[in-house]
Amino acid sequence: MTKRLSIVGIGYVGLSTAVGFAIKGYQVHALTHNSEKAQKINQGIPPFHEPDLQKNLQEAVNKKMLKCTAKDADMILNTDITFIATGTPSKSDGSIELKYIKETAKEIGTKLRKKQSYHLVVVKSTVVPGTTERILKPIIEKSSGKQCGKDFGLCMNPEFLRQGAALQDTLNPDRVVIGEFDKRSGETLFNLYRDFYGSDTPILRTSLSTAEMIKYASNAFLATKISFINTIANICEQVPNVDVKKVAEAMGLDKRIGKAFLNAGIGYGGSCFPKDVKALIAFSEEVGYEPILLKSTETVNQAQPNRVVQLCKNLLGDLNGKSIAILGLAFKPETDDMREARAIPIINKLLQEGAKVIVYDPVAIPTARTIFKEKIRYAVSAIDCLKNADCCILVTEWDEFKNLTSEDFRKNMKKPILIDGRRIYNPEKFSQKIFFKAIGLGNKSENTRAKELV
Ligand code: UDX
Repeated sequence: MTKRLSIVGIGYVGLSTAVGFAIKGYQVHALTHNSEKAQKINQGIPPFHEPDLQKNLQEAVNKKMLKCTAKDADMILNTDITFIATGTPSKSDGSIELKYIKETAKEIGTKLRKKQSYHLVVVKSTVVPGTTERILKPIIEKSSGKQCGKDFGLCMNPEFLRQGAALQDTLNPDRVVIGEFDKRSGETLFNLYRDFYGSDTPILRTSLSTAEMIKYASNAFLATKISFINTIANICEQVPNVDVKKVAEAMGLDKRIGKAFLNAGIGYGGSCFPKDVKALIAFSEEVGYEPILLKSTETVNQAQPNRVVQLCKNLLGDLNGKSIAILGLAFKPETDDMREARAIPIINKLLQEGAKVIVYDPVAIPTARTIFKEKIRYAVSAIDCLKNADCCILVTEWDEFKNLTSEDFRKNMKKPILIDGRRIYNPEKFSQKIFFKAIGLGNKSENTRAKELV
């Protein structure tokens, strides 16, 4: 059983995989084209905020189990399995950009030309069905001068980790999916994962294209679950005394439904759901099926951030010159990532309306500065953010925001109006002291109450 692995591409998936293997006793060599990133990783510093990763990366580096290099692709030759974790971003039409992963496949193939023994290439990047077999395999074969199935093996092994829980998910996945070109490829990867996870983790073996589809289907299903509950939330808001939180709780107790991903709010963001739903739509259209359901998932998600801005307008009237506090910028808690974060369309719309925007996030302010520059104000704490605001919108459900009390809002804001975009506050308690509005909460007579309190 091989204990020497290489990983090309060192983003969330690549680095979490690398650290996961390294701390469990595998010798890992990571490759990137970014020498600054490689340097940081070799010092034990992850290039992004991710709980648990720093400590474990440091440990892996100190024990010399993980080394990262830029440009030194020859290192692949010292290993027996190479994982591809290169990014596959969206193109402007929603389809996926394969430029980078094609370059990676060529780079690996070129190196394999010199290798005498069998080598397994494993695609971990998210790619639409057919990509590994029809696009990447020919590139590796051509650049290596070798034949897939004979000289080297090929697998597609989708990754299901969540940001904010990347290492934990890498070490404890619900399932492992192995798409295999042939039996030998699948067997090689299966043995690696049985050694890594033991016998408790289910491992499913499929064709390459089925594995590719499993990843898209899983993400599209979760995204659809979110858009579904947001649709219910939007209906709930029109009806007095209905609360989507209770609806979701009761729905979730039905084992066929399950409670996960039924949190209504301002929609999904991040580097996966928005990109993967768009890519599956583009792929589906390309192969001749009109994916109405997926298009609706996407439409609901795009409209959702506007709802809190509209609520703000309904309550304050003209937003020109009004001061709006935004709590939370990251696309979800425990990360500084703002890719497709719902905060972005919300802030842009508020600025368009002439509002003055002040923001706070425990870790994502440096990211936000690169997006909004001087167009908004950056607070140093949640309380600082609330000071003299006309309205506050809760955008990301960080734990530290959950600890704020209605008194904190009442004492610090000019007008104590709070819009809970993630349903973290207790409506009964908060409505007693401040004007409180939340996604999916049907209020009795909100305007009267707003006038009373403001
Ligand atoms: C997701 C998948 O969960 C993971 O399996 C895949 O590998 C990558 O994409 P991630 O993007 O890290 O992971 O975050 P996730 O926790 O899934 O949340 C995505 C978005 O959905 C966030 O913006 C989150 O706020 C939102 N969300 C999630 C909801 O709005 N409601 C929910 O109930 C759950």
